[in-house]
Amino acid sequence: MTGIGKLFQNNLDWVAKRTAEKPNYFKELAKDQKPNYLWIGCSDSRVPANEIIGLEPGEVFVHRNVANICPHTDFNCLSALEFAVNILKVPDIIVCGHYGCGGVSAAMEDHHLGLVDNWLRNIRDIYAHHKEELDRIHNPKQRSNRLVELNVIQQVLNICHTTIIQEAWGHHQKLSVHGWVYDMESGKLKDLHVGISAIEQIEPIFRVQIRP
Ligand code: CO
Repeated sequence: MTGIGKLFQNNLDWVAKRTAEKPNYFKELAKDQKPNYLWIGCSDSRVPANEIIGLEPGEVFVHRNVANICPHTDFNCLSALEFAVNILKVPDIIVCGHYGCGGVSAAMEDHHLGLVDNWLRNIRDIYAHHKEELDRIHNPKQRSNRLVELNVIQQVLNICHTTIIQEAWGHHQKLSVHGWVYDMESGKLKDLHVGISAIEQIEPIFRVQIRP
């Protein structure tokens, strides 16, 4: 079987496998979700969130977009963030970029791609901010991979600068935002050690006073 029909067969096979292991698997899963993590990653098909971190359905709330960007004006990302923080009350948020990211590489080139150019402008801003460091890296792959890291670091900050996260901290909700990169060539994750868990770790200009 080829094409789209194969997907339905895959689905039936998966249902059969899961219910053979646990007859009530889907009934239990349908009741509720209590994930401990929000994953914000790239749409790239080679970076499947659940599989990389070995988690089952129901264990990670996922938001993915091209080049894992969290701009302050993106209601899609902000809505996912709000739901994860205020309703699911996840204690850990992970921004995970990946080396070899096509979106990040495209932001370093001058080709006109279409609407996505406007989305990738966010990454061009980060390049402009770190131009001196990036221009010193002559190998294009290494330069792109460093921009992947800088993008993750910026998105961690963007998330922490939202009122969503600051209100949670203001109400003493335990919440950490982590920055990771996935290496597709080895399959391994790298922690950039840029995690933020408290308002004191962000610049005063980005802090908002939360009323109790
Ligand atoms: Co990507």
